[in-house]
Amino acid sequence: PKLSAIDTSTLTITKTTTPKTPTPHNELIFGRTFTDHMLSLEWTAESGWLAPNITPYQNLSLDPATCVLHYAFEAFEGMKAYKDKNGHVRLFRPDKNMARLNRSVARIALPTFDGPKMIDLIKEFCRLESRFIPQTKGYSLYLRPNMIGTQRTLGVGPPGSALLYLIASPVGPYYPTGFKAISLEATTYAVRAWPGGVGASKLGANYAPCIVPQMQAARRGFQQNLWLFEDVDPETGRKEDFVTEVGTMNLFACIRDEKTGQPELVTAPLDGTILEGVVRDSILTLARERLVPQGWAVNERRFTMREVVEASSEGRLMEVFGSGTAAVVSPVRSIGYQGQMISCGLPEDKEVGPVTLQMKDWIEGIQYGEEEGHAWSWKV
Ligand code: COI
Repeated sequence: PKLSAIDTSTLTITKTTTPKTPTPHNELIFGRTFTDHMLSLEWTAESGWLAPNITPYQNLSLDPATCVLHYAFEAFEGMKAYKDKNGHVRLFRPDKNMARLNRSVARIALPTFDGPKMIDLIKEFCRLESRFIPQTKGYSLYLRPNMIGTQRTLGVGPPGSALLYLIASPVGPYYPTGFKAISLEATTYAVRAWPGGVGASKLGANYAPCIVPQMQAARRGFQQNLWLFEDVDPETGRKEDFVTEVGTMNLFACIRDEKTGQPELVTAPLDGTILEGVVRDSILTLARERLVPQGWAVNERRFTMREVVEASSEGRLMEVFGSGTAAVVSPVRSIGYQGQMISCGLPEDKEVGPVTLQMKDWIEGIQYGEEEGHAWSWKV
């Protein structure tokens, strides 16, 4: 197939004739309302990427035999546009999202694209939709790039055509009334991802199967699933539950070493079963820069529920939190595991621990341009 590059000079913009009134801040629900326009690029195996279009937000028209509707040829991204105190629109590490989308689509035989060119188009889109980006810290415009296979066929094979599009939803803080620490059900009956699988790719097909376990956890009073992977620990020869992710987020734990007392920030390594979170990477980088000099160890390594349970019972489990684009960080109070409740180190009267809060402040400071000149914040 010919993979002609995206040509941003051929962009056409058709503005809506019925502009919406942006939803008042306090009524925003994640992903419920959208801006006036969408960005679309079609691809065909014969011609490569066709001219990009910004059009009024509208329904897609798909033949019922379109391959995405049968075989899940779909990958997506989640990123945000922020408005700083001077009214400038900013993106946070959009190169990371484009690189990940390219890895995701390549895994399901959809066409790759020129990331920097797509970022130029996203910037153009953000400028057009600027009035939908709230200028209040904690608020942003959630951007949802999505690619689907559009070939009309029930034949199982590489799609001969695709659509890359982007829609946008103004969003408020994930926890509008401040942090609420959540409780997790360590899920032992369902597995999110496995070695050789596609857990590292942001495919819609990874998300739908997690909803029934999420409903089961909710029925038992837990907000989210803690995803585990049972495997033999090569060092001990023992079967262990390795900690992987939480809900739709990466997971971090702060554990004090039993011998040295050194605090460690730990998260599961990118072994193909872990989504390569942009916030995950940002937390690791900031921790290496700013926590290591304070005596912390920062590690991407496999760790087990046994370790978490022991640390908790010995008072060495300091904090646990999830990380993702939607919430930035999400503090964890407790984990239900094998009929026991494991406390994650938060005092009863607190909803967030110091490291979790510090990470949120550092990352939001960069996202909203308060930390000036940071390379992760791209002015639009
Ligand atoms: C995130 O935590 O940023 C996500 O992945 C949530 C998204 C799937 C709605």
